Amino acid sequence: MSDQADKLREIINDLKKQQLTKQLSTENVLEKRKCRVITVTSGKGGVGKTNISVNLALNLSKMGYRVVILDADLGLANIDILFGISPHYTLLDVINNNKTIFDILSDGPMNVKFISGGSGIEEMVHLEKWQLEALIEKVASLDKVADIIIVDTGAGISENVISFVLAADEIILVTTPEPTSIMDAYALVKTVSLKDRDKIIQLVVNRADNEKEAISVMNKLTLAAEAFLGVKLKQLGYVLYDTNVVKAVKRQEPFILSYPKSLVSRQLNEIAHKLMQVDQNSMKRSSGIKGFFRKLANLNNA
Ligand SMILES: Nc1ncnc2c1ncn2[C@@H]1O[C@H](COP(=O)(O)OP(=O)(O)OP(=O)(O)O)[C@@H](O)[C@H]1O
Ligand SMILES: [Mg+2]
Repeated sequence: MSDQADKLREIINDLKKQQLTKQLSTENVLEKRKCRVITVTSGKGGVGKTNISVNLALNLSKMGYRVVILDADLGLANIDILFGISPHYTLLDVINNNKTIFDILSDGPMNVKFISGGSGIEEMVHLEKWQLEALIEKVASLDKVADIIIVDTGAGISENVISFVLAADEIILVTTPEPTSIMDAYALVKTVSLKDRDKIIQLVVNRADNEKEAISVMNKLTLAAEAFLGVKLKQLGYVLYDTNVVKAVKRQEPFILSYPKSLVSRQLNEIAHKLMQVDQNSMKRSSGIKGFFRKLANLNNA
């Protein structure tokens, strides 16, 4: 019985791959648009990056966008824990085991796909140039099947996290109202601005007690960044503290699925809509996932 189930699963997987290949060869010949790569980051850890990444991805998918999440936390895998799904492969299997990028795409809820970076990202540093080029070409296929790639990173100003921030065209910077979190977010803006003044930095305040507090934190950070660093931050929105988030995490379920009508889900929906209100010209300048990996490789090998 289980043999039959395995066989069936194999057939379904093959069919899915055929569909993806077909999509690749027909759909995007006409359309050369590249996907938006958005790195979600923070100064301090534990501020809600993974929750924002996952729920934002689901919300964007609900809005009709094709979304892939890349779990780039080099420590513990985050996304699969929140989805309650264990991926079979990681980016390392694309490097070492001849897998394609589609082999390592896992299915999350609501059509969102995710990739576990695993130790594949660290491994990029040790690759020969030709191996790196082969990897970048494989990863580039994602441009054709995704509109948005959300990169969930670990916390902090470590070199690795900064590489993901610098490689992406735009970032979402998450902070809580705690002074330490705000200070670390400011420090991150400073580090980024010293290396790249064109980065689009979008601010999300998470776990605020009320709207007034959230807006005050956004304004403080925006003003400080502008006055002392000459950097313009874009205020994307906020999510209040809600025990439903904690409950959903314990159930290993994204909160917008467990509590779709809750205030936090509505606030996330606003963030998703604001994220998509961008002018088409800036979209055209997007360097896509290929550009992202190329920059990442250059930064890591610099
Ligand atoms: N809006 C919220 N309301 C209440 N609790 C929240 C909220 N957002 C996050 N949390 C709590 O904070 C915890 C940490 O969130 P999350 O794992 O998303 O943070 P992170 O920034 O990804 O952490 P890390 O830096 O370790 O990767 C969650 O498990 C949840 O309990
Ligand atoms: Mg996380």
